[in-house]
Amino acid sequence: MPIALKQEQTPMAARTYRVGIVGAGQHVAYSSEVHSLRDDPSIPVRNTVVAGHAASLALMPNVEVVGICDLDPKRTERFKRAWSSKWPDLRLYSDYKEMLRSEDIDILTVATPDHLHADVAVHAAGTGVKGILCEKPIATSLSDADRIIEACDSNGVVLTVDHTKRWTAFYHEVREAVRSGAIGPVGTIVATLAGRKMLFRDGTHVIDAICFFAESDPVKVSAVVEEGFESWDRYRGSGIDDQDGEPGASGFIQFANGIRALYCGTGGTFPGTWLQISGPKGQVHVDAHEESAYVMTGNVEVGGVQRRNLIARPFQVQRIVAAYHEMIGLIERGGEGVSSGREARKTLQIILGFLKSHQEGGKLVPVPEAD
Ligand SMILES: NC(=O)c1ccc[n+]([C@@H]2O[C@H](COP(=O)([O-])OP(=O)(O)OC[C@H]3O[C@@H](n4cnc5c(N)ncnc54)[C@H](O)[C@@H]3O)[C@@H](O)[C@H]2O)c1
Repeated sequence: MPIALKQEQTPMAARTYRVGIVGAGQHVAYSSEVHSLRDDPSIPVRNTVVAGHAASLALMPNVEVVGICDLDPKRTERFKRAWSSKWPDLRLYSDYKEMLRSEDIDILTVATPDHLHADVAVHAAGTGVKGILCEKPIATSLSDADRIIEACDSNGVVLTVDHTKRWTAFYHEVREAVRSGAIGPVGTIVATLAGRKMLFRDGTHVIDAICFFAESDPVKVSAVVEEGFESWDRYRGSGIDDQDGEPGASGFIQFANGIRALYCGTGGTFPGTWLQISGPKGQVHVDAHEESAYVMTGNVEVGGVQRRNLIARPFQVQRIVAAYHEMIGLIERGGEGVSSGREARKTLQIILGFLKSHQEGGKLVPVPEAD
């Protein structure tokens, strides 16, 4: 269980960490999508899990957002309207280098579009920041991902990638059920992303979940991407959340430990995310969206199947709040985070391997090590 999910290890508010954010889009400014419909996005409108960065940071006593940066001044102004009562000294920037020079930032959040994370993160790593929370996917090319990882390693900066579900008690409950041996050694994982389908923007969460439960390195992949995206031998998107601007995909992943996984992410189906994790003794059925799961064990042929619901133990701190808590713990005490740059790189390898395979007619190909 990662430290971020353990209440008793939540870092004490010994000092205040200065946070800067680059990219003031939807995911940063609002608690949930519903909030964008209201004048004051900081006011929750329904009893929902806090999803955005600002709303998550606002729950933490030991952080202060000191700078928000966006190329679009309307977005920084909107952020200020929403959050300056919480952080009155907040300053607005359009140049992230200037923000890093002026604000003595401890933790930088990189929430620019998917293909624009690297330049910001690499520059920030050399300016004295202690931690970088980079949005998912880590990048859209391996060269960019490697630049980020290398810059953070060589400057002693903690790098965390926001595959948010890794900080849910639910995912850990499922993984512990798998690790307990109840279903025997895992043979296959079938994952379905439905409703949404963008391979880099949405698929990254589901492919990361496959990696989280497989606990191994991807070795080979094959895939076919959606029709109309034949030119996608690499990321060719605009970075915006446009369901028609990025392909869905159906893919196969072979891991070093022998696990074989299927990824179904072509959209046009009932919304949700499901995983079936199977071993010789049983299967774990996971509804990742609704956070419910059960384990089936026993002998189907003689009718002795048992079904046990998995109930995640309650934890005070989850998701993005837990990601920041974990980061502060890693800065103060060192250690390995639950969603490091290297973990996130595996997911990107798979996604880029899917594109490579598609270019070769769906052939089984080794996951790429470089672009
Ligand atoms: N973890 C999650 O569940 C989750 C959910 C939604 C989005 N995201 C990720 O968060 C990131 C941002 O998503 P979004 O929906 O907020 O995007 P968005 O397009 O709404 O916002 C991105 C912002 O970055 C700004 N920007 C781009 N380059 C910049 C630069 N050099 N300096 C300053 N600002 C710059 C843009 O002007 C824009 O306002 C993406 O990588 C996305 O995949 C993650």
